[in-house]
Amino acid sequence: MIIAVDGTLASGKGTVARGIAKAFGLAHLDTGALYRAVAVEVLKAGDDPRDHDAALMAAKTLDPSRIDEIAIRTAEAGAAASVVAAQPDVRSALFDLQRRFAEQEGGAVLDGRDIGTVVCPDADVKFYIDADPRIRAERRWRELTAKGESVQLEDIERQLAERDARDSSRETAPLMRAEDAVLLDTTHLSIDATLAEAVRMIQNKTGVAPRN
Ligand code: DC
Repeated sequence: MIIAVDGTLASGKGTVARGIAKAFGLAHLDTGALYRAVAVEVLKAGDDPRDHDAALMAAKTLDPSRIDEIAIRTAEAGAAASVVAAQPDVRSALFDLQRRFAEQEGGAVLDGRDIGTVVCPDADVKFYIDADPRIRAERRWRELTAKGESVQLEDIERQLAERDARDSSRETAPLMRAEDAVLLDTTHLSIDATLAEAVRMIQNKTGVAPRN
């Protein structure tokens, strides 16, 4: 079974995807982490994320087992990830890895921006998670400040709008809802309630019962 979870920044898609994986005993891949890791490598080397050759080299040599979970979660890494992710060659270089992950025995949940449209158009169930930009900005601000980053809510809101625009307007694999994806809006729904709804929908559609 393959489950695709796409959505906007800080919409709760990561939490929902992890929860689905746990409920059905599936492997989980956060594909945004791959783009973030590529971006961190480029920045570490002192290169510009817009530098095609530097970004492509980092994508081709990425070892997913060695991703630094702390380094990739900063606001700077997120912004640079959105820039490297707009480059078609970078996306192609990361495609096989994502596809192999999806096809593993036992099934998988992948979350990102183009899972239901490009990486796993054949997914058994597809979700598109979204929420009002203000709510998403507040969530991201809380996450970053809880980690000790000093950031202003207004800056996060502005960056979020920029990231949404760049992710949605790029030519290759833009962020968009697959025609057959179920829209879950988390503006007024808690992430737990959203997850419960997603689990119920997967069971209805596939006939597979969650483990717990
Ligand atoms: O979900 P995230 O914030 O960790 O993603 C970081 C960036 O990576 C985001 O701006 C868009 C990009 N991304 C992408 O283009 N395709 C994916 N499947 C996942 C992430």
